Amino acid sequence: MLIHSSSQLLTLQGGPQRGRALGALGIIENGAVVVHDEKIIAVGKTDELKAGYPDEPTLDASGCVLMPGFVDPHTHLIWAGDRANEFEMKMSGKPYLEILAEGGGIISTVKKTRAANMETLIAQSRSRLLRMFIHGTTTAEAKTGYGLQTATELRLLKALLALDDESPLDLVVTFLGAHAIAPEYKDDPQGYTDLVSGTMLPMLKEWWGTHAPRLPLPFVDVFCETKAFDLLQSKQILTQAKELGFPLKIHADEFDNLGGAALAAELGAASADHLVVTSDVDIAALAKSETVAVSLPCTPFGLAEEHYTPAQKLIAADAYFALATDCNPGTTWNESMQFVIALACRAMKITPAQAIAAATINSAHAIQRSETIGSIEVGKQADMLILNVPDYRHLGYRYGTNLVRQVIKRGRAYSVDVGYYQTA
Ligand code: NIG
Ligand code: FE
Repeated sequence: MLIHSSSQLLTLQGGPQRGRALGALGIIENGAVVVHDEKIIAVGKTDELKAGYPDEPTLDASGCVLMPGFVDPHTHLIWAGDRANEFEMKMSGKPYLEILAEGGGIISTVKKTRAANMETLIAQSRSRLLRMFIHGTTTAEAKTGYGLQTATELRLLKALLALDDESPLDLVVTFLGAHAIAPEYKDDPQGYTDLVSGTMLPMLKEWWGTHAPRLPLPFVDVFCETKAFDLLQSKQILTQAKELGFPLKIHADEFDNLGGAALAAELGAASADHLVVTSDVDIAALAKSETVAVSLPCTPFGLAEEHYTPAQKLIAADAYFALATDCNPGTTWNESMQFVIALACRAMKITPAQAIAAATINSAHAIQRSETIGSIEVGKQADMLILNVPDYRHLGYRYGTNLVRQVIKRGRAYSVDVGYYQTA
């Protein structure tokens, strides 16, 4: 298939973009792409590719931006129920960590998730996954973490693998058994930490070997935070995970600065995520490392808080900067990377070009997939978007509506635009 005549083709070529290099879109005007099977086999000007591939079936992208599919590197996709009541409580003035300490928050979703059968869990999560897809996300990371007991955490993994199997969107799985202290261990956080590191992680390794032997090992993540896992407990879990061969992630500095970002850098984690109250020392540690700083601006937005990731500082210090939704039932239920981009531009004063790179090639790097996705280059997987806009800056500029006309996933085109409904 030859996709041609795009007003702007954003290639994002050249690999992940570190520090001030962020925002190089590699634009080809009147650009075209040739796709064979699931891969990109040619990228260039429309005239050249039309001449070189005269017999290809064509897809006209006139007046549209053609760009890589969004990669969302941080979601809590799999849960049951909702917490609309807590949103109302928070808007009436009750802090998130207070609701969590009283057995609400994550724990209330844990209760609903444990009680849900497989069919319900998959059906509810599927609707979110499809919403991600029609808004342009072609690969998403997805975490467990609403089980907090070995059997349920494994059930969530199973559900995620089933969703990955059935849907066009690709999922990259993360084990987040350390999302909160399980209610059974309310007064013994160290006991739960020992359960995660000593029992769950070795079982996970074995389980993965039998259930998903062909997939790379999942990431292991920890919520390093006051009232969740302190720095030493986070280190215990992540060190054990690293020894077992798992790639690492961390939730750090969402509310309190405990040193989780520097820990991620020290252990060679793929990413450190949230990073709202990150100290200058932690920023310097990230900047010296290969660990990607993943900002989740919808989380402070969802909680109506005023502080966001110090993106300017991270970029000036030479860190890798990426964006994600954090889609979850508590702090931010939003599936759209387009909204993340619009918010990131305003709340962190970054440009649309920087936000787009942070939501494609750099977010692919945050899940260690930048060799195969996140840009439009020969040999890469054909994951692309045709946006119903003539200029890339409409991303960021516009928000709250879907700008995607078509999603191309592994070379297959899915029309998602509502288009024009003709009345009889
Ligand atoms: O990333 N920080 C921890 N986890 C989620 C919130 C999960 C929840 O409230 O259910 C987050 O914000
Ligand atoms: Fe999260």
